[in-house]
Amino acid sequence: MTDIGELLRTRLAAGAIPTAEIMSLALYHPQFGYYRQAQSHWGFDGKDYYTALDVGPLLGETLAVRLEAAWNQLGRPEVFTVLEPGAGRGWLGRDLLSAVSGAFGQALVYLHRDDNPAGRAAAEAALAPFLADRRAKFVSEGDPLPVFVGAVISNELFDALPAQPWRWDGGQWLRMMLSSEGPDWESGDPGDAGTWFRTHAEGHLRMGDGAAWNEGMALMVRELARTLSAGLFLTIDYGDSCARLVSKGSGIRRYRGHRVDAAWWEELGCCDLTADVDFTRLAHLLEIEGFHEAAHHSLSHWIRRSAPLSQWETEWQDLEEKDRLKRMENLLQLTLPGMMGERFRVLEAWKPQLS
Ligand SMILES: C[S@@+](CC[C@H](N)C(=O)[O-])C[C@H]1O[C@@H](n2cnc3c(N)ncnc32)[C@H](O)[C@@H]1O
Repeated sequence: MTDIGELLRTRLAAGAIPTAEIMSLALYHPQFGYYRQAQSHWGFDGKDYYTALDVGPLLGETLAVRLEAAWNQLGRPEVFTVLEPGAGRGWLGRDLLSAVSGAFGQALVYLHRDDNPAGRAAAEAALAPFLADRRAKFVSEGDPLPVFVGAVISNELFDALPAQPWRWDGGQWLRMMLSSEGPDWESGDPGDAGTWFRTHAEGHLRMGDGAAWNEGMALMVRELARTLSAGLFLTIDYGDSCARLVSKGSGIRRYRGHRVDAAWWEELGCCDLTADVDFTRLAHLLEIEGFHEAAHHSLSHWIRRSAPLSQWETEWQDLEEKDRLKRMENLLQLTLPGMMGERFRVLEAWKPQLS
């Protein structure tokens, strides 16, 4: 029994608990939560999972090109702030800051926002030169956010927020719960989630359709959207359109030692728990906040569209063989069908300057 298991034992004796509440405890309990511990879980050997940042700097370099275009579109402001909620180790900020130069490099200020202690410690090392010259700063999750011109970016933030799986059984909605007997589906009122899934399902709902409802998404999007007076909202994550998620019946996944399964109720606090992101809803919430042109594409498509890949491939030819191979592997991981570039999506939305 883990420490969270101990905490839950008494509560479960009083009745079943919704999955989203368990996920919230398992990931964010101030003492025992997976993302509130001192040791890091990212990487390859001995770790639980890796992200696009572990396979090389290509994501940060592509982001640098995309953000410079946004800076130009905004009329080259003197300060271009980039806020990254869920920044973890700060590697995306490091790769971004390492790739920029010239006037855009001078304008860029990067804000790391994530109270994960392991992430913060790693970010202090990764961002050290940029913290020293004040091109990178830390902000805490509880701090009020400034209002700025620039961009809000995130990589695998929304998939790490508590989510509640719902399933249509043909006549009513069921929600996934945990009781002292184990996980089970119980009938319940999905409220807004039920209306959303029904409206966005392809055709009518069939038995077994459903998806995980990200309970904190609306509030988080509102807070982040309002911090940006003008500029780009860019989110990288795995997920899909609402219609595809509902017809897949997606639930919660567990990552432990690079193994993935659906046993989210086991070893609570020792595993990553994650849910597919509903990109239709994310785009809708941003449009409510005054963003235009909200659209999402595969990560592979976004990289091929945003980065000058043939120029970079030519430049890589001058590298030593070991480094050249690393760069090519990084490119293939993020662009080949069936690999990360197909599993992940990038959503962009634009908030224009008020004239
Ligand atoms: C899956 S990790 C991704 C980390 C990093 N972006 C990467 O790609 O390696 C999700 C991170 O989101 C953070 N997080 C969750 N909710 C947050 C919030 N409300 N504000 C800032 N960070 C948050 C967690 O602490 C965790 O470090």
